[in-house]
Amino acid sequence: MRVAVIGAGRMGRRHIQIVRDLGLELAGVCDSDPKSLETVREELGVSAERCFSDAMTLLGKARPECVIVATTAPSHCNLVCRSAEKGARYILCEKPMATSLDECDQMIQACRAHQTKLAINHQMRFMQQYTEAKRLVNLDSFGGLRSVSVIAGNIGMAMNGTHFFEMFRYLTNETPLEVTAWFSPEKVPNLRGPQFEDQAGCVRFTTSSGKRFYMEVGADLGHGTKVIYAGPYGQMVVDELAGLMSLSLREEPQRELPTTRYATPSVEKSLKIRPAEMLDPSKAVLEALINDRNAPTGEDGRQTVSILVAAYVSHENGHVPVAFEPTKLPRKRVFPWA
Ligand SMILES: NC(=O)c1ccc[n+]([C@@H]2O[C@H](COP(=O)([O-])OP(=O)(O)OC[C@H]3O[C@@H](n4cnc5c(N)ncnc54)[C@H](O)[C@@H]3O)[C@@H](O)[C@H]2O)c1
Repeated sequence: MRVAVIGAGRMGRRHIQIVRDLGLELAGVCDSDPKSLETVREELGVSAERCFSDAMTLLGKARPECVIVATTAPSHCNLVCRSAEKGARYILCEKPMATSLDECDQMIQACRAHQTKLAINHQMRFMQQYTEAKRLVNLDSFGGLRSVSVIAGNIGMAMNGTHFFEMFRYLTNETPLEVTAWFSPEKVPNLRGPQFEDQAGCVRFTTSSGKRFYMEVGADLGHGTKVIYAGPYGQMVVDELAGLMSLSLREEPQRELPTTRYATPSVEKSLKIRPAEMLDPSKAVLEALINDRNAPTGEDGRQTVSILVAAYVSHENGHVPVAFEPTKLPRKRVFPWA
């Protein structure tokens, strides 16, 4: 399989390593910044003839069967659509999928029209912190998931919040009914350039079956990433960066008591899991894509962008709950995400 990587920054370099780890052929690397190309030549030993400064030249000359788009978000749509037109059978695009819902739709349509499989690199379904959480909350002893609360440092709604939106979708298989948001006044600085802006703050959404998602990533919070999963008989706290899970369950004889009896005797368990990292889960996404397994799709990526758009609309309109009707959200509005 001939694979090209477009965008040779921090994430693109990880993808180059993944392509090699999987024994795939690196057909070419493209970056519009000569410094990024110099880094991949020097640090990763990519030969000069495989380095391109223009994506169309790379697509024409290297003829990749698979393209990984690891540029910043404003170019994702154009690069995905052109790669599909040029005959790529598989495309893995970095998140956030695009800077508008209209771009997400163009990407999905172009890939459909050219029979190209599209995946978005929301790698949550391949991370132990979520696969294990999904297994545990669905045990009879936990009673099913009712609520997820994320509290983290200033991780950015688009940068990392979208990953948590996808995590919730993966765990519940449900879409939000309405979204409410409160943004911090401070913007999130972005090391990828001053043209990019992200938001800190809080988001809440609910689903039609009554499940709740809360995320608190205020601009004045500067440490850690923890998630609390709660259900009728259990709570689980996951420290994602330390790789620790602690589970607290009602003892079996107390299970059918009303929820108001929340302080019954409990069984406590702790588990060590793999601390969050990007390389192996991204590798699993690429493998799933090229083996036609369950990679996160363009539709999954679009849903995370829709939640983000709904959050902006809610915040800008006095924190009103915004009905999650992706066809009614502003499709053409372009956001400054990276
Ligand atoms: N899935 C994850 O967990 C994860 C983690 C980090 C970053 N990301 C995403 O990956 C993307 C890249 O992030 P990064 O940290 O590597 O950024 P970066 O700034 O380090 O690298 C981006 C590179 O893309 C190049 N580029 C931009 N537009 C281009 C174009 N039109 N043609 C060719 N090259 C172009 C830039 O010159 C730069 O070298 C972002 O969308 C980011 O959100 C995802």
